[in-house]
Amino acid sequence: MKNFRETSLYPLLLKKQSELAQTSITTLFENNPARLQNFSLEEGRFFLDFSKVRWDEEVLEFFSHMADELKLGEAIEALFEGKMVNRTEKRPAIHTALRDFSGKPLMINGENIQEEITRVRKRIEDFSKRFRAGRLKGFSGKPLKYIVNIGIGGSKLGPETVVFALKDEKSFPVYYLSNIDGEEVKKVLKLFPLDETLFLVVSKSFSTKETLKNAEYIKETGEKLSEDFVLKHFAAITSKPEKAEAFGIDREKIFLMWDGVGGRYSLWSAVGMSIALSLGYDVFEALLKGAEKADKHFRNQAWKENIPVLLAFATIWHTHFWGYHTEAYIPYRQRLKFFPFWLQQLVMESNGKNVQTDGRKTNYSTSPVVFGDTGTDAQHSFFQMLHQGTQVVPVTFLAYVHSGSSVENHDRFLLANLLAQAESLAFGKQNDLPYKHFEGNRPSLTLLFDRLTPENLGFLLALFEHKTYVESIFWNINAFDQFGVELGKINADKWFEKLNQSLDIKNPVASFIKNHLYHD
Ligand code: F6P
Repeated sequence: MKNFRETSLYPLLLKKQSELAQTSITTLFENNPARLQNFSLEEGRFFLDFSKVRWDEEVLEFFSHMADELKLGEAIEALFEGKMVNRTEKRPAIHTALRDFSGKPLMINGENIQEEITRVRKRIEDFSKRFRAGRLKGFSGKPLKYIVNIGIGGSKLGPETVVFALKDEKSFPVYYLSNIDGEEVKKVLKLFPLDETLFLVVSKSFSTKETLKNAEYIKETGEKLSEDFVLKHFAAITSKPEKAEAFGIDREKIFLMWDGVGGRYSLWSAVGMSIALSLGYDVFEALLKGAEKADKHFRNQAWKENIPVLLAFATIWHTHFWGYHTEAYIPYRQRLKFFPFWLQQLVMESNGKNVQTDGRKTNYSTSPVVFGDTGTDAQHSFFQMLHQGTQVVPVTFLAYVHSGSSVENHDRFLLANLLAQAESLAFGKQNDLPYKHFEGNRPSLTLLFDRLTPENLGFLLALFEHKTYVESIFWNINAFDQFGVELGKINADKWFEKLNQSLDIKNPVASFIKNHLYHD
């Protein structure tokens, strides 16, 4: 298996970079008045502007050939066809199958996995409709109407991003409890009336310590009030149903996910239950259908017309040819506040790797550091560094244009800020005072869409899943395992044992650790 450096295009792209380093983004625009038209793309309700990247047609042409040489087309088909793309764990990655409404079978190990997916989806629909109709009752006989999602990483970031983006005054309240922090779990227990709260234990492995310890604490607290607290108030989403049953959860309230669905790609599965409960099953299904549209786009469009592929080209271009190892993602909309958090796990857990699929070490960097916050908040926090700092950080701006809010001037002001930032980064501003000088040539991409509908949100999130996959093909790494998180978990167990034996939590912890734990 080749990586991008081993293709015949690599030296050509290196040469292109050294040429383009002599040409500013301003000059690129001056030389081509149609640059925005030439370097932008419309797909359905989405518009991608990639004109403010320091590249030209030839660079895109070379990248397209590089993609062919790396057999990107075959890799995409392998993903959709349920082939074993996750080689270290010897399994497929079936997140696209979760949102495939075509009715076509998908055979994995001799079984049509679509039958099971449809069955689980129907169960999500029934359960969420019963909940929303007030037919699920707690131990006091009152209908359950509050939701606590107990899960971490992929078992919360996707659903939380979606619910925060789409909720309105009619939505059922959800709280996402993830961290293992005694103060936090106690706070959550006071947030909603216990006899009206449904607790979802969301854990693919059903062995994640944070999730289990939080769930156990809530179970113990609830059982002091009612013997059948777990039966009435708990549901589980997991690929280990037997563990959920052993915890005491009613079999009827256990929803299956599959080994082939990675945590960070799992919001389309029953992991998205809190979306269906809070916002309605129709919203959940519309989200899936939006993602399905993105899947079709990704699978069928030529590389230069393909949003995830172009986004990935930009990342590879910036990381390897310009040496920019950090990327900022700035949604100019408050409802998209959680998008950067979801993206961080998706990108860095997928592609933060240093071993190629054939076992060779990468001798190049892989995932950039990804971070972000909403605009305009971010402008008043870290944008100073983006404009005048010593590292160039490519930015991806995101926004939907119509909010439907009646505060139109706010909406215009928000969008004006996005456009102003992209302009300022790219073109800069001459000033004789060095500290007031903006050098420009700071690249950005802008992804706009019309409205924040469930469909558009599904489309958006799926685009970034695919972008991540494309990058993994260029880097020849497996995007679907995450062995890098294991050592810390083992060591945390060891430290927990030590603390358990010897830490009196009432003593000053810092001096205890200094005096005892480091001197064993
Ligand atoms: O530790 C990382 C991780 O395994 C993520 O990949 C996953 O999303 C998260 O933990 C939660 O895992 P689980 O759903 O098995 O509790």
